[in-house]
Amino acid sequence: MKDAAPTTAPETFYLKNYKPFGFEVDSVELTFLLSPNATRVLSKIQFSPKSDAVDPRFFLHGEALKLISAKINGEAVTPEMVDGGLTCATPDTPFTWEAEIEIDPAANTALEGLYMSSGMYCTQCEAEGFRKITYYPDRPDVMSTFSVRIEGQESVLLSNGNPTGQGEGWAEWHDPWPKPAYLFALVAGDLLNHPDRFTTQSGRDVELNIWVRPGDEDKCAFGMEALKKSMTWDEQVYGREYDLDIFNIVAVDDFNMGAMENKGLNIFNSSCVLASPETSTDANFERIEAIIAHEYFHNWTGNRITCRDWFQLCLKEGLTVYRDAQFTADMRSEPVKRIEDVIALRARQFPEDNGPLAHPPRPEQFQEINNFYTATVYEKGAEVIGMLKRLVGDDSYYKALDLYFDRHDGQACTIEDWLQVFEDATGRDLSQFKLWYSQAGTPRVKVTEDYTDGNYTLTFEQSTPPTPEQPDKSPRVIPMAVGLLSANGDEVCATQVIELTKAKQVVTFEGLTSKPVPSILREFSAPVILQRETTNAERTFLLAHDTDPFNRWEAGNALATETRVAMVTHGAAPDAAYLDALEKLVRDDNLDPALRALVLSPPSQSEIAQTLHDRGITPDPQKIYDAAETFTQTLAQQLETSLPRLYAATTVDGPYKPDAKGSGLRALNGRILSLLTRLDGGDQAARQYQAADNMTQQYGALACLMKAEKGATQSQAFFEHWQSDRLVMDKWFALQVACATPQTAANVASGLTNHPLFDMKNPNRFRAVMGALAGNHAGFHHDSGAGYTLLAQNLIALDALNPQTTARMCAAFQTWPRYDSVRQALIRAELERILASDGLSRDTNEMVSRILQG
Ligand code: TRP
Ligand code: ZN
Repeated sequence: MKDAAPTTAPETFYLKNYKPFGFEVDSVELTFLLSPNATRVLSKIQFSPKSDAVDPRFFLHGEALKLISAKINGEAVTPEMVDGGLTCATPDTPFTWEAEIEIDPAANTALEGLYMSSGMYCTQCEAEGFRKITYYPDRPDVMSTFSVRIEGQESVLLSNGNPTGQGEGWAEWHDPWPKPAYLFALVAGDLLNHPDRFTTQSGRDVELNIWVRPGDEDKCAFGMEALKKSMTWDEQVYGREYDLDIFNIVAVDDFNMGAMENKGLNIFNSSCVLASPETSTDANFERIEAIIAHEYFHNWTGNRITCRDWFQLCLKEGLTVYRDAQFTADMRSEPVKRIEDVIALRARQFPEDNGPLAHPPRPEQFQEINNFYTATVYEKGAEVIGMLKRLVGDDSYYKALDLYFDRHDGQACTIEDWLQVFEDATGRDLSQFKLWYSQAGTPRVKVTEDYTDGNYTLTFEQSTPPTPEQPDKSPRVIPMAVGLLSANGDEVCATQVIELTKAKQVVTFEGLTSKPVPSILREFSAPVILQRETTNAERTFLLAHDTDPFNRWEAGNALATETRVAMVTHGAAPDAAYLDALEKLVRDDNLDPALRALVLSPPSQSEIAQTLHDRGITPDPQKIYDAAETFTQTLAQQLETSLPRLYAATTVDGPYKPDAKGSGLRALNGRILSLLTRLDGGDQAARQYQAADNMTQQYGALACLMKAEKGATQSQAFFEHWQSDRLVMDKWFALQVACATPQTAANVASGLTNHPLFDMKNPNRFRAVMGALAGNHAGFHHDSGAGYTLLAQNLIALDALNPQTTARMCAAFQTWPRYDSVRQALIRAELERILASDGLSRDTNEMVSRILQG
């Protein structure tokens, strides 16, 4: 047995140990002499010692750098090399630091710092990647202006800010806005641009560009429209306008995450910006629009106002996710967006919050900050802002935001600063509300009711289960949006927000003529788990009559969950009343097709597993899979006579447009096709595949055929047609695994890792295969353990190349405490094998250790 512990115990960083840097950085000048294996970086930095420094040590971060020379005030110095950087004796008056270092971008497979992707140079500095470019106080509370000179043979040389000069083989940039190093960016490549312009509300003319590799220039138009819409929206809704002469977006193939908000130079995973009807699905279009908006909105919430330290990450991410969700709701459909977000929250954040990786939106410790770019920081961080807005009201919210921008522009802030602004703008005491930022775990809210003599009483009891390091929880402020319906479907009490603050709280509605049906947690007004004993009859009633579209869907979702649980636990048949209700709904042409599609989309098998676990039942993934299959088959038979008509009625005529209306119809049409395929053996899907002129319908048809094991010919044709388009090939790889049966999933995934087009170094391709394996619930958890072994092997191999992506994907194992002891032992063995592998990264070491502690 190898020693599981790394040679030096990884350092843990604590929020409570925050100390400001002892120096101001007055300016930064950087010169890059680009060369694939030996790029020289020359830095010239003006430092001024702070008179009131708490920590006067001159420490500069640096990792994997070759120091060629260093000077202070022009004199050569020999810094002392220490763990993670260097220190040096410095004058007590302002001084100039100069350093020349050498780095190897071509060898950088971690995709952090300066690296090469498909022949172009690009950077990724958030969170702590700048220290892989040069020695610097690489912390977000150190802000400075940057001037950059790039020398290289590439036709396009980009950095942050405005261009200040260019010639053959060089370009210079200056960013007038002080920024932390994590927002630094550089791109160099033989790129083409899709140009446009935008005039801001105060009349500033801004040049806009999306830069891509030759061949991708016809996939930029949609992203550009999304950018202009985002710019307009932020002016109209938040009064925020853009602040440079140029805004550049670059598409990069090899990227660890979705996109990055570098000042004036956003860098995007090509999958999050490139779009065309032939190669992108409706879901891709919606996501691209949202991510373009997200990164653009960071210009104010993140860049102009940044984070004091990385513990405050949700200050920028929670707020920016909240803002991009508002944007999507405005551009498309508010209820549809809300339902989609709640589905995603339950799929990604709830498992985190209810497992070994649980942490508060503002964590208090970490070993590797990259491991905290989580659903909790992002999505729960956004939910917290949604609750705040609901509590103070819209007017106060925007008043507080104005104050935030006014008071903190140019600063590096904390959650305390953020809440103070709300307290000052509204006069409210938010000390209890603040618990949302410090307590982990999903609150359970138990609701009971009583109706006596015209008085209707709801009793709410909240509690939060223990999470790692937090055994006891205090009651939080929970905004509960509640409405009441009469038995004939009239709303007898419009939505009102009940503010829960105590462990137990009672609310009475007086003067009702009959017992109402409550609609609780409308719009999902708080990220909690509602526990309420109710009947399927009442759920069916709400599914048909609730005036809140979210709760209508929620009632359907609860019915779907209950019927599946009953099928799994005692072999029940699919609930007949629910099937009838679904049928009525699907055939109701007055109801938004997008909503009908969502009501027809079953809860995920992983979610059923979690529900069973919450009720003290050990989930059996194969049984859950079988129940899902049986249910869909039964539903298809129930709808048999209406399916052809519905299919025809939801087929969109005319040219493809990725708007809300068209994509809603196509979503419903896709659900109908998958039901139809259960009955016609794939005839209609094969016809649709043949006729499709857009990826949504082509891919949708292929998925139906593959699921029915009738898609071999089309899958081969698809491959041959699209093999040189990387983003489409990612879809093809993922689909093979997603459609595989529980017995074959690991085998299919394993085979694909030997495919000539599989490239572990490309995170999109790795995720396409391994992410799809983890997402194939019954396949990944097949009792052979083959899925676990395959993922572990691939994570070990990837860790040597790309720790960040490896560590993120370890989360596939986070739900292990749900399962039976045999599966638990299999997973544990794989996790221990990962932990024992030689030279394991700090990233993966931290994730696996935390998961194992669960
Ligand atoms: N700040 C980015 C965003 O949310 C995300 C991000 C953090 C990131 N670290 C990254 C992106 C590393 C790519 C690589 O928009
Ligand atoms: Zn972000």
